[in-house]
Order: sequence, then C-alpha cells, then structure tokens
Amino acid sequence: EAPEDEGDHDRDRRLMSSLPAKVYGKRRYLEYQATWWPEAALQGVLAIQRRFRPRPSDVLLASYPKSGTTWMKALVFAIMSRKVYPLRDHPLLRLNPHDCVVQLLGAYATGKEAVVEALPSPRIMASHMPFSTLPASVVDANSGCKIVYVWRDPKDVLVSLWHYYSKLRPEEAHLSEFHDLYESFCRGDTVFGPWWDNVLGYFRASVEMPTRVLFLRYEDMLEDTASNVVAIADFLGCPFSAEEERAGVVDAIVKLCSFEELKNLDTNMSGSNGLLLKLPSSSYFRKGVAGDWMDHMTREMADRIDTIVQAKLQGSDLEI
Ligand code: A3P
Repeated sequence: EAPEDEGDHDRDRRLMSSLPAKVYGKRRYLEYQATWWPEAALQGVLAIQRRFRPRPSDVLLASYPKSGTTWMKALVFAIMSRKVYPLRDHPLLRLNPHDCVVQLLGAYATGKEAVVEALPSPRIMASHMPFSTLPASVVDANSGCKIVYVWRDPKDVLVSLWHYYSKLRPEEAHLSEFHDLYESFCRGDTVFGPWWDNVLGYFRASVEMPTRVLFLRYEDMLEDTASNVVAIADFLGCPFSAEEERAGVVDAIVKLCSFEELKNLDTNMSGSNGLLLKLPSSSYFRKGVAGDWMDHMTREMADRIDTIVQAKLQGSDLEI
C-alpha cells in the first residue's frame, strides 16, 4: 500500500525494488517494459515518463547507440538553426554536437530536467530509448512532436559498440571482449533493448505515422547526404528555398557536418562531454564508414547475425 504523501522519488524507488534485477559486470540492471536498464538510467526513464512535457514543435532524434546519433545531432541542429547561425561561423565549429543537442535521458537521470524545460522552442533532443518506452504524451497523435530515427547495419553497430566499450569503459570489462559482446548482441541482451526491437519499434511507428516519424539509414546517408538533408528539412517543416539551394546551403551543411570536418576540429579532438557518462569528445568520431565489420568478424559470424536479425524482422517489410 502506497503512503498518501508519497512523492515521485519514493514511488520510483518502490517500483524499482519490485522489478526483476540482475548484476552484469559491476552494474545492476533492472527489467522494465521489456528492456534491461542500468539503475541510474531507469531513474531517468521513470522521470521522463512522469514529468516530460512535450511541445508541438519538439524534435526527438532517436537511435540505437553507435548508429550515427552524433552525425544526426549535427545535421538537424545545422538544418533547424540555419537562419540564426550563419554556417561560416557556426556553433558546431566550436562545440561538440552533443553539446548542441541535449540527451534527454541523461538530463533526467542527473536531475537536470530543468535544462530541458528551459530550452527555447523548437527544442531538439536525443534519446536511445525504445519507442515503446517513450512517454504516451510524446507518442500521442496530437502531440505534434517529430521523431527522426537513424539506423545502421547491426554488424557495424556491434563493431562500433565494441570499440566504445573496450577503449572507453574499463569498468565494463565484461563487454570488452569482442566474442562476449557478439554473443550478447545475438541474444538481444544489450542496453536499450535488443537491437531489432529498438529498430522495429521506430520502423513501425514511421509506417503508421509517416508525418511524425522519419526513418533513415546511416548507409543511405553516407551514399547521398545532400538528398537526405533535403528530406530531413522537408519532414521538419523547414524546407530549403530555391534561393538557398542555389546559394549552396545544402552542400555547406553537408560539409560542415561531415565526418572529416567534425573529426578534425579542435573542439572534437580534445575535451569531454556527456551527462550520465563523461566521454572524450574525440570518441564519437572513429572511422565513419560502412562495412568496417569485415575487419572484425568472420563470414560465419556475420552470417549468423544476419540470420538472427532477418528472422526477427520477418513480416515487417524492413530488410537489412
Ligand atoms: P564507427 O565507430 O563505425 O566509426 P553514435 O554517434 O550513435 O555514437 O555513432 C557513432 C558512429 O558514427 C561511429 O562509427 C562514428 O565514427 C560515426 N560518426 C560520427 N560522426 C559522423 C559523421 N559526421 N559522419 C558519419 N559518421 C559519423
């Protein structure tokens, strides 16, 4: 029986103590809404579900980790703010993309939700939360919020994740062996849910609500960034004018946000950022290519992931 004067904090604590738990490496994980969460992250999820107040002009950048979030943050920020910041002297030249677009879960998990509340409209926010765990107020047909989701070949996601864990997270030693991480990935035992659930949740939402959810593929963006930039601007309701196109604004945004350009900026070669986890700014720019998995797994390992993923995606019209 809940005490009458129970606040959000106590309520969440009580809920968390009732959830299935497991210890993995040095971290305790709790299962909530079909996803295993590190405890601190779950506090953020519960706070978002209780208190996040969407605005009709909100834009949420969603992704599974290591799928191109940094790039999407830079692109959407540059597209939406192009009338305010001339591209020649743009904040992205001085700030890491993660300092330009707030991580929703990180903010709520670290008690910084007031930062999100104080952002002027239109707000751009990012999250790896599965679609099924977003607050109903965001998903609601009347919320008006737009979601841009980027996904990527799961084999390259896995390789990128492995570099991330093995170089940056010594405390997660149990994930630093490629083979162990590979097995976890194949079991769907990864943070932010199984890769296929995360991707399918947003894919289905994009089919049901095409004006609300834009579903983009990292490899397609690499192949033709300019037409994806145009598509993102159209989707967000800030299309490029003929005059802008003639003046080369689209190409200038593509160049500003390109891997080579961002990776070599002083701001991205030094320093660190992040809310729940502080990471070197340089760590977000590794190779930025498609197909790096070929240097890390055998054909058999690749075929096994493809087979597992294809089975999970079956019947969905989504193909890897
Ligand atoms: P690799 O590790 O394969 O190089 P996230 O931003 O979701 O953490 O994803 C990181 C991946 O995106 C890394 O992949 C990183 O190199 C790549 N990346 C970062 N910025 C990029 C950019 N501007 N263009 C293309 N890829 C980029």
